[in-house]
Amino acid sequence: MTVSVEQARLTAAFLLEGPLPRRWSHVRAVGTKAEAIAGAVAEADRVVLAAAAWLHDVGYSPDLVDTGFHSLDGARWLRANGFDERVTALVAHHSCAWLEAEERGLGEVLAAEFPREVSSVADGLCYCDMTTGPDGQSLDVPARLAEIRSRYGPDALVTRFITRAEPDILAAAERTQTRLTAAGIAQPI
Ligand SMILES: [Fe+2]
Repeated sequence: MTVSVEQARLTAAFLLEGPLPRRWSHVRAVGTKAEAIAGAVAEADRVVLAAAAWLHDVGYSPDLVDTGFHSLDGARWLRANGFDERVTALVAHHSCAWLEAEERGLGEVLAAEFPREVSSVADGLCYCDMTTGPDGQSLDVPARLAEIRSRYGPDALVTRFITRAEPDILAAAERTQTRLTAAGIAQPI
């Protein structure tokens, strides 16, 4: 089923706004940023980027939690509810989730259930998520990574994951910034 940006936004609001208002602030900013940087991807990919950005954290919704790994839980829910397969797979792997899956012992499960797209869209999604703080504030990538580390603590699985993912996240953000510059689009951060 093809997804619209409006449908993605309404779905995310339905799942997150009430139970997780802080998470919703983050998601609202990530979705808005993805719409603003649409020119970093081909015209045909812009709805996919924006829809994936609005939906990327639905797996945190208490209604959806299953394994406790939000990327996988969110993608499974989107698939079960007939959402666009490409958007669903982007959510499954967003922001280097494949590395977090390995830390959780779910690497093979994630890879078997959802194909990983390597593209300007995946880069753009990572850029929007990794330049947006938990309250929706814009941060550069190093500040966002530091924020995650301090929020979860030095011994947390998420901190181990984000340290492993740092080179890939920085590279994805840099590629997106290069595309934005080439397209003459002012960077949101
Ligand atoms: Fe996020």
